Amino acid sequence: MTKLTMLTTVAVLTMSATTALAEGETVGFSQIGSESGWRAAETTLTRQQAEERGIQLQFSDAQQRQENQIAAIRSFIAQGVDAILLAPVVATGWDAVLEEAAEAEIPVVLLDRQVDSSEDLYLTAVGSNLVHEGEVAGQWLVDEVAGEECRIVELQGTTGSSPAIDRKTGFENAIAGHDNLEIVRSQTGDFTRAQGKEVMESFLQAENGGQDICALYAHNDDMAVGAIQAIKEAGLKPGEDILIVSIDAVPDYFQAMAAGEANATVELTPNMAGPAFDALEAYWADGTMPEKFIQTESRLYTAADDPAGEYERRKDLGY
Ligand code: AHR
Repeated sequence: MTKLTMLTTVAVLTMSATTALAEGETVGFSQIGSESGWRAAETTLTRQQAEERGIQLQFSDAQQRQENQIAAIRSFIAQGVDAILLAPVVATGWDAVLEEAAEAEIPVVLLDRQVDSSEDLYLTAVGSNLVHEGEVAGQWLVDEVAGEECRIVELQGTTGSSPAIDRKTGFENAIAGHDNLEIVRSQTGDFTRAQGKEVMESFLQAENGGQDICALYAHNDDMAVGAIQAIKEAGLKPGEDILIVSIDAVPDYFQAMAAGEANATVELTPNMAGPAFDALEAYWADGTMPEKFIQTESRLYTAADDPAGEYERRKDLGY
């Protein structure tokens, strides 16, 4: 896209904002799927937020396939929705469909994951600093092992997704320069509990029944919960024999922490829709352009942070 075309696109989007209605809007939501407890909570909260604001939500579950997301976005464009929320399963391959949305003057808001397209092709992105999440997880482990030798296995998220790429980078940043820490095996578990368990089983087998593993770093809690099961079935104590650090802060992981079977997690809020709808409402009202990135917080929880209480506080929130 040329600079002129990009500027024109922004101008067209701004003009359309001033003429949009502030109430009764229709928003298409292309969700990745239901691969994790966190994802389920994001879906629940998006539906709740839409209902509270009188927004008609058209929901599409892509079953973790990018082609389904692209088809859903094209269908939203054909329906003439007022905005599109997109949680992109992978980072690449969005240019054509985002250009179609821009040509149709429909603002797109990215939720929880990033794309490698031009920023001019979406209104804003709501999400956490994914590299920072990995850094927080890695720093926790650096501090926890306090100079002891530690062989780490890593369960990566969906290949090609921005959280898998960035959480890996962040963790590697944190352990760089600490020669006592080494990632000895790393494989995708696709953010699911079932694959987390399956891949952990293969790690355990390859690492002397798990005797040679000091810690697991999982890119999300669901994979960690699956891995915990595998560790128990191998006759080891998760959280003691193998330290476990992960990301999301879902209720099931807090339950594992309360039982001493997991050690730390970095919170990712599932309420991406609240800030997204706030930005869209301001945009519809008077064309206010939001920041390109609306960042949510990333907080570390350990066993010292009342995991049983956190479980109780979160268990009915749609996870
Ligand atoms: O993009 C956010 C990630 O996607 C969450 O950490 C994970 O649970 C989900 O599948």
